[in-house]
This record gives sequence, structure tokens and C-alpha cells, in this order.
Amino acid sequence: MTGAVKVTLARQGWTFDAQAPATVLQSAERAGVRLPSSCRNGTCRTCICLSTSGTVRYLIEWPGLSLDEKREGYILPCVAIAETDLVIEAPAASRLPAPSDTGA
Ligand code: FES
Repeated sequence: MTGAVKVTLARQGWTFDAQAPATVLQSAERAGVRLPSSCRNGTCRTCICLSTSGTVRYLIEWPGLSLDEKREGYILPCVAIAETDLVIEAPAASRLPAPSDTGA
């Protein structure tokens, strides 16, 4: 078992743990953070966000990002696995109540 890495949403100051093989999107959801998503397979680009620090690898060979976008740091969280701690800009992210908040 490899260690989890930490993903930080720069604007909101929220953090969650991400651990392969879960994608950044799945890890966010597990932590109650909802990032925009639609296809969840790396084609629609709904989930695109800027990663200002850290590295990811992809589950698929050709995530729907141009080379320029990759160079600028854009990632597709639905098919990205965090390899190091990440800082991402996801202004549209929202947070669900934590399970402990619901009395469940
Ligand atoms: S949800 Fe479609 S590319 Fe990520």
C-alpha cells in the first residue's frame, strides 16, 4: 500500500487525501468534495482544472488536454491519479456535509 498524498483546493483551503488507484475526482468525492464532472472518462473536459503544484499520471493514454494545457498545468481530475501532493484551482467545487454531520 502506497501512502496517500494530499490534494489542496487553493481557493477554498480544503484538503483531502488521494490514494492510487482512486482518481483525484474519486478521492475528492470520498472526502465529500464535489468537483464538476460529467463523462468521467477524460473526454468532455467538464472537470478541467489548473494544478499549480504537484504531478499526476493518467489512467488513459490521451486525456482530452492539449500539450499547451498540460504545460500550463491543467489536469482532468476524473482520469488523473495524484503522484505527489497537489494544489488545484477548482472555483466551482462544492462541499457536501461530512458523513459525521448527517448523523449517519
Ligand atoms: S468528467 Fe469529462 S473529462 Fe473529466
